[in-house]
Amino acid sequence: MARLRTAVLISGRGSNLQALIDACAARDFPAEIVLVVSNRANAQGLERAARARIPTRVFSHGDFATRDAFDSAINRALKDAGIELICLAGFMRVLGDAFVVAWRDRLINIHPSLLPQFPGLDTHTRALAACVERHGCTVHFVRHAVDSGPIIVQGSVPVLPNDTADTLAARVFAVEHRAYPLAVRLIAEGRVRVLDDNVEIDGRPGPVRLDAA
Ligand code: GRF
Repeated sequence: MARLRTAVLISGRGSNLQALIDACAARDFPAEIVLVVSNRANAQGLERAARARIPTRVFSHGDFATRDAFDSAINRALKDAGIELICLAGFMRVLGDAFVVAWRDRLINIHPSLLPQFPGLDTHTRALAACVERHGCTVHFVRHAVDSGPIIVQGSVPVLPNDTADTLAARVFAVEHRAYPLAVRLIAEGRVRVLDDNVEIDGRPGPVRLDAA
């Protein structure tokens, strides 16, 4: 069985990259990571990729005169590697419209909130301030607007009375590390369709929900 040729784009720690590497280590997982791209040469995730013997490329955004030039360089590397699916995993640069359109429905992101709640940064602090009962993560197809797009998987966790942003983040990370491999599996198995900018999974309205007790 041909495995879906996947690239992961990172900027930092790479714990979601690690979760995907670990998932892909199973022989029956339907995707493989063939390239890791970082915009930071010192991203810890690059070491994770090296340990797993996955080729890496670094494109430092400061080396490019324009965002288009930066996006084009990454686009070329992805094409050269025969990439079929791109996973953004803590990639802290906004990709331009041309890139997003070119990879429509083959470009996904993980965000640490239950979108449409809390797009943007500092999601855990904002979730605590809003006194929500549940918080979590979202894996979605990327569209023009940041942290928007058809949702494939959402993973939720309870918010506990004494939570700090750090304790809540740790709980959300645990569900992120289940949600991202699940979303990649569903796509690689051909079970995900985007219709009118909504996701169908196995012909039924999505998203898939992982709700931790
Ligand atoms: C995660 O919280 C992810 O949801 C967000 O950036 C963070 C990346 O963490 N987009 P890591 O680099 O995967 O550890």
